[in-house]
Amino acid sequence: MGIHVLDHPLLHETMARLRDRDTPCDDFRMLAYRISLLLTLEGTRDLPSVEGTVETPLETAAVRRLSARVVAVPVLRAGLGMLGAFLDLVPSAQVGYFGLERDEATAVARCYYEKVPADLSDAFVFLLDPMLATGGSAAMAAEGLRERRAGRVRFLSIVAAPEGVARLVEAAPGAEIFTAALDRGLDEQKYILPGLGDFGDRLYCT
Ligand code: PRP
Ligand code: URA
Repeated sequence: MGIHVLDHPLLHETMARLRDRDTPCDDFRMLAYRISLLLTLEGTRDLPSVEGTVETPLETAAVRRLSARVVAVPVLRAGLGMLGAFLDLVPSAQVGYFGLERDEATAVARCYYEKVPADLSDAFVFLLDPMLATGGSAAMAAEGLRERRAGRVRFLSIVAAPEGVARLVEAAPGAEIFTAALDRGLDEQKYILPGLGDFGDRLYCT
């Protein structure tokens, strides 16, 4: 599995504001959108395209058009904070959903909803979940994708912990991880350190 940790001064500036405990949730949502744009650009860099032509007002121009089937799968609820950016850049993408929730006491994920296309064998699948902590949620989502025969899986996260990366590598050896930050570790409640707190709560002002 490849892990790609993004490195760009505009990303670092945006991450600094996203992590800041004093950032209000309306700003947090906008910053998450911007980071998700950068992650989407990086994660889709090698998607296949075909040559074609279009008529400009002046003459015929050679162009390239996306030729891949792309499926975005946000993990509810926090992954919804990344979906708008993804669809703004890949408007032709299909969308499926996994609803996963960590138990507050054990940090073990359970699935409460799934609506994902049945056959993903010919698709480039992008799992969207901003936090990769223990990796339990990501591993569960990866298992759901494997049941649907997904072969090309990319996981877009905003903050990842080494524990989560290791768990996902074990669960989905062929997947690629794109993350805006690889943090130090986890605390006793399995929150990422230094992290940014509870992403879903900060996104939705709860
Ligand atoms: C968060 C996050 C991931 C999960 C990561 O979701 O969005 O899905 O935790 O933790 P893990 O790697 O230890 O599984 P949460 O369960 O808090 O639900 P929410 O998105 O509804 O807030
Ligand atoms: N989920 C979050 O939202 N934050 C963490 O640090 C870990 C899991």
